[in-house]
Amino acid sequence: MKEVKIESTLYVFENLDELPEEISLLMQKAVKARENAYAPYSKFHVGAALLLDNGEVITGNNQENASYPSGLCAERTAIYYAGSQYPGAKVLRMVISAASKRQTTITPIPPCGACRQAISEYEVKQESPIEVYFMGEKGKIVKSNSLANLLPLVFDKSVL
Ligand code: THU
Repeated sequence: MKEVKIESTLYVFENLDELPEEISLLMQKAVKARENAYAPYSKFHVGAALLLDNGEVITGNNQENASYPSGLCAERTAIYYAGSQYPGAKVLRMVISAASKRQTTITPIPPCGACRQAISEYEVKQESPIEVYFMGEKGKIVKSNSLANLLPLVFDKSVL
């Protein structure tokens, strides 16, 4: 038996002022999308903004349902819309903002496992990395240079 170590490198910005302007503008769009989330059950509002290589910005937010599992996360709402409307475009980056109505969210909120798997599908398909930035309502912002970095041992089409 041998030990195998898996490493990921992330970058942490202390606050919004530290972000490059282009990212800060996308974050503003993610926040705006977050404010339109439909999350009456969890009261946890998430917004995502995607930049495509054709210059389009796609936003999405979480959509909940009285039948809980029928709801969908912000990240998948956004990336599935992008995939459906711009099937040939590459996703350059995804910027995510999350805020709870119960308390101030100061921890950066990463995409859930199901969303990582969904985003990964597009990264594999387009053969180029998708940058991911995520934050709470305020505080630090975390950047990953690719989705693969957030999902080691990914399940993808290469095994099918
Ligand atoms: N949620 C997202 O929108 N994105 C994530 O990556 C994590 C969770 C949503 C789903 C649900 O509406 C609420 O947050 C609480 O889980």
